Amino acid sequence: MIQRIAPSILSADFARLGEEVNAVVAAGADLIHFDVMDNHYVPNLTIGPLVCEAIRPHVQVPIDVHLMVKPVDRIIPDFARAGADIISFHPEASEHIDRTIGLIKDSGCRAGLVFNPATPLHYLDHTLDKLDLVLIMSVNPGFGGQSFIPGALAKISEVRRRIAASGREVWLEVDGGVKVDNIAAIASAGADTFVAGSAIFGQKDYKAVIAAMRGKLAPA
Ligand code: DX5
Ligand code: ZN
Repeated sequence: MIQRIAPSILSADFARLGEEVNAVVAAGADLIHFDVMDNHYVPNLTIGPLVCEAIRPHVQVPIDVHLMVKPVDRIIPDFARAGADIISFHPEASEHIDRTIGLIKDSGCRAGLVFNPATPLHYLDHTLDKLDLVLIMSVNPGFGGQSFIPGALAKISEVRRRIAASGREVWLEVDGGVKVDNIAAIASAGADTFVAGSAIFGQKDYKAVIAAMRGKLAPA
């Protein structure tokens, strides 16, 4: 199984964002995770399509846009134009989930659905056949630097079972509190794509952290 490390620029130094994304890509990032918060769906306010467009030329890997905004549909084409490759959204933020997935795909991007710690997986019942990615939140969305909620592991295993049963290639991403010391357990539960913000940008040597994460992922 291909495993991917997706540094979240939420914990980067925004005054030096171009350098930060260059550095993390050079350090071996597989994706750039881009957290969009609106001070409405979540109690924080971050970055939008302008910033996505600004970093696009600096980034040679896919940009993984995590929308924590409500309503969600109107902003999707803007992110597609700004160079997003993957766009994920929360089912609670959309009145018509199937329509939102269609909008993302019609914009030329891959589509992901995000599950908060208390969001039930039944939202996958009629969507998994169209999704490219499922994102399990292992913290409540809104802030970097929170602790991993252990209940996410059972949820990841259940999603892995559903993806296997579907026979489709769907990425299973986990976001929140991922560190060198818990990434192996998260991978064992079935995740293949690991978002890490403070664990990478909080450190001096991005390459060393990403290598340490990959070391934990390597089969024993
Ligand atoms: C939280 C964001 C995360 C956040 C993760 O709402 O979606 O992507 O940046 O940060 P860490 O890895 O520090 O928990
Ligand atoms: Zn995120």
